[in-house]
Amino acid sequence: MTGRKMLRFNLMVAVGENFGIGLKGDLPWHIKSELKYFSRTTKRTNDPGKRNAVIMGKKTYFGVPESKRPLPERLNIVLSTTMKPADLPADVVLCPSLEAAMHYLETEAKDIENVWIVGGSGVYAEAMASTRCHKLYITKVQGKFECDTFFPAIPDGFHEVPLDAGTPEGLQEENGIKFEYKVLEKQAAQ
Ligand SMILES: NC(=O)c1ccc[n+]([C@@H]2O[C@H](COP(=O)([O-])OP(=O)(O)OC[C@H]3O[C@@H](n4cnc5c(N)ncnc54)[C@H](OP(=O)(O)O)[C@@H]3O)[C@@H](O)[C@H]2O)c1
Repeated sequence: MTGRKMLRFNLMVAVGENFGIGLKGDLPWHIKSELKYFSRTTKRTNDPGKRNAVIMGKKTYFGVPESKRPLPERLNIVLSTTMKPADLPADVVLCPSLEAAMHYLETEAKDIENVWIVGGSGVYAEAMASTRCHKLYITKVQGKFECDTFFPAIPDGFHEVPLDAGTPEGLQEENGIKFEYKVLEKQAAQ
């Protein structure tokens, strides 16, 4: 060990009542203010000279409308074991595993302040099981939506903490869809 601090990450997801997160490569709902919250939160840095990284699986990356990807003002890292770097724009980093992505960030990307895991299913499961995982930013969406992709069970040891300053508290509503922002944090090891 070098004694250098291990780079941690947060996770962000919007989850339906049935733990659904996706349908046919897209989100099961359309909530504009929630997408803005995602964008604002994953872009935010304390140091204006730095930016954040977003790590996602191949399907999540290609589920973002073409005009909106790569997600702007953030380093986009796509996980895939089958793609080649040429399949992605030059400013997108391709990694064969979550640990490879974290190793890349620790060794090659010194301008990164925060790392966000943004899906899909398997990436969330691996992330939540990792000792690198710090906070889960979960938007709980009420109502029944058809879904074919689901959020994995949250492991023991996470507890709810106050929302970041500026996040709307309590039940929100847009176009008849009710939802609520929550943040959970991993209990520090005793
Ligand atoms: N509600 C939300 O907040 C939210 C967030 C994100 C996504 N979604 C939705 O979820 C769906 C997509 O999620 P998904 O679970 O189906 O797919 P995904 O995780 O985005 O992509 C799956 C593919 O990514 C690659 N991959 C995933 N984990 C990897 C790892 N650890 N190492 C290397 N490669 C890895 C693999 O590609 P290869 O086969 O090429 O190896 C795998 O086939 C979409 O509907 C999307 O809209 C919702």
